[in-house]
Amino acid sequence: MTIPSGAPGSPPALELRDIRKSFGAVVALRSGTLSVAGGSIHALVGENGAGKSTLVKIVAGLYQRDGGIFRFHGEDVDFTSTAQSKSAGVAVIYQEPTLFPDLSVTENIFMGRQPTGRFGRIDRRAMRHEVERLFTRLGVTIDPDRPAEGLSIADQQVIEIAKAVSLDASLLVMDEPTAALSGVEVERLFTIARSLRDEGRALIFISHRFDEVFALCDTVTVMRDGAYIATSAIADTSVEEIVHQMVGREVTELFPKQETTVGAPLLEVENLTSPGVFHDISFTVRAGEIVGLAGLVGAGRSEVARAVFGVDPYREGAVTMQGVPIPRGRPTDAMRAGLALVPEDRRKQGLVIESGVGGNITLSIRRQLAKLGFLTTGMENRAAREWATRLEVKAHALDTVAATLSGGNQQKVVLAKWLATQPKVLIIDEPTRGIDVGTKSEVHRLLSELAGQGMGILMISSELPEVLGMADRVLVMREGRITAEIARSEATSENVMYAATHASELSS
Ligand SMILES: Nc1ncnc2c1ncn2[C@@H]1O[C@H](COP(=O)(O)OP(=O)(O)OP(=O)(O)O)[C@@H](O)[C@H]1O
Ligand SMILES: [Mg+2]
Repeated sequence: MTIPSGAPGSPPALELRDIRKSFGAVVALRSGTLSVAGGSIHALVGENGAGKSTLVKIVAGLYQRDGGIFRFHGEDVDFTSTAQSKSAGVAVIYQEPTLFPDLSVTENIFMGRQPTGRFGRIDRRAMRHEVERLFTRLGVTIDPDRPAEGLSIADQQVIEIAKAVSLDASLLVMDEPTAALSGVEVERLFTIARSLRDEGRALIFISHRFDEVFALCDTVTVMRDGAYIATSAIADTSVEEIVHQMVGREVTELFPKQETTVGAPLLEVENLTSPGVFHDISFTVRAGEIVGLAGLVGAGRSEVARAVFGVDPYREGAVTMQGVPIPRGRPTDAMRAGLALVPEDRRKQGLVIESGVGGNITLSIRRQLAKLGFLTTGMENRAAREWATRLEVKAHALDTVAATLSGGNQQKVVLAKWLATQPKVLIIDEPTRGIDVGTKSEVHRLLSELAGQGMGILMISSELPEVLGMADRVLVMREGRITAEIARSEATSENVMYAATHASELSS
């Protein structure tokens, strides 16, 4: 392998110094500095909007910098296209994989550079053979001939990585790769990342999950407001120190769930079944209560949420709000009855990407405001501003186009939009995914406050500390069934994990 190693004396694989980048009046990077050695995994952390993704996009050739030094293996470079960075040995794995759904796994890996045999024909056997070799090396068990369509995000990411390895990339960047992965999938990703590091490649890992940063990385660089703050060896730093560098202040209590008096049942779900997806799901959400829905990614939690809200069909069972049946498949009726769903994939399902921040936030309440007989721009702006402030949305102005917000800030806008409708029951899927540590406690505080005001909340979360800290009652799902219901006082990571990974002893 011809990977320049991180041997003493050799230059870092990547060196960025004082990188500047503005988009019109928005300064995304004031002074981006990062030095990544071959044979190491380097964490890049910072609050939502700190400039992490922008820095990476400059390395990928997607954006051009306005100023600063950019060296790759000791040479000054200017990548003006992604093709250029790719051929120089940079591979970027974005949070949302960019595979072609209709093409096979093998075709995706070889996209744009199919090996040709005699007569210039695409040599399918050679491709297939190479993919098998790659998968064996990476310990992957995906069928190379199946289409990319329908693969889990985890598998799609692994295919992106396989692609990077087959291109012999010397620098691999992973921008929040674990956000949609289950524990097992994260472990597989980490095993692959470590073996790539041990081959001498350089890796950049962007994440809001500190446990992962500490488990995987050798070095960490903290950014704040588009500027470099500090770089430390993981062994010499701590979560507290990193958080302090990120936020510039102490972050208090992560999970401040307050005690509330639980009131009358609001949402009742009875024996909901959708063959092959979920089976015999029954639960109740009462006023003032946060019900946690835990389980591994893929257990069917989001599917249940979507069926309850009416966006997906189900075959049997019933959903009622305060005793009134909600017809299946009718989200408008569900909303009218006081139900709201904040979906998991907010970028795709919750955001009008070409609209402004304000317009997105007031999208759902516009009708409510109009019903009062007078909807003024002033009212709308006030509502938008209030929620944008409560959720600390970092945007230049209320009319800033949602597409240009950082990933985490887009998440916040969708949260704001649904919270602004002040539903009776809020179903929220992964409330803090992709959200930075400072705002995370703010989101928790807000959910707790809303419950305190009598809202019923069904919170789907894959983060155990979040479930244990926030939920009054924990439902656990595994393979489409509820395997346990555990009261707050009884819930531990052990019994929740157990129920998430073992069939219930109660059901057959
Ligand atoms: N194409 C663009 N046009 C205008 N502004 C942009 C554009 N891309 C990024 N920005 C702005 O640059 C800043 C940095 O965004 P960036 O996406 O780099 O943040 P991030 O650190 O990756 O945050 P997150 O953790 O939320 O993903 C933000 O204020 C964002 O709104
Ligand atoms: Mg980002």
